[in-house]
Amino acid sequence: MRRVWWLALVAGMGWAAGRAWPESPALPPAVARGAALYQRDCAACHGVAGSGAPGAPALDGPRLARDYPSRQALARFIAENMPASAPGTLSPTMAEDLARYLRRLNPAQGAPSQL
Ligand code: HEC
Repeated sequence: MRRVWWLALVAGMGWAAGRAWPESPALPPAVARGAALYQRDCAACHGVAGSGAPGAPALDGPRLARDYPSRQALARFIAENMPASAPGTLSPTMAEDLARYLRRLNPAQGAPSQL
């Protein structure tokens, strides 16, 4: 009986070790889409991490939350004004995904539940 218990325990450990353990939880799909769009359409001016560059403000600091208190307001601004080189070319969904991603760059801009 004892022996069976040990076998079960060892088998269980092997099963647990064989399972892939995720490095970090996957991003929600909309945030992941926003991240990809950001790298494609925004990073050239605002920097790959959103920390700004000469000529384009940082998007990862408190300024964004001050200027756009809601995700909707941020998405509307993005849809109408960005990318600065081609404003009005993003669909509302793209702007929404970007807003979700940007709010995530600075946790103060919205807890994950508010994304
Ligand atoms: C050609 C350069 C350029 C590109 C590309 C660009 N931006 Fe901008 N962005 C700017 C500049 C310049 C400003 C400042 C404009 C102003 O203050 O009127 C700005 C301002 C912003 C702001 C307002 C920041 C604030 O606190 O007021 C947001 C948000 C923003 N950009 C998001 C984006 C997003 C999202 C993209 C990609 C879809 C993008 N930008 C692509 C140049 C760019």
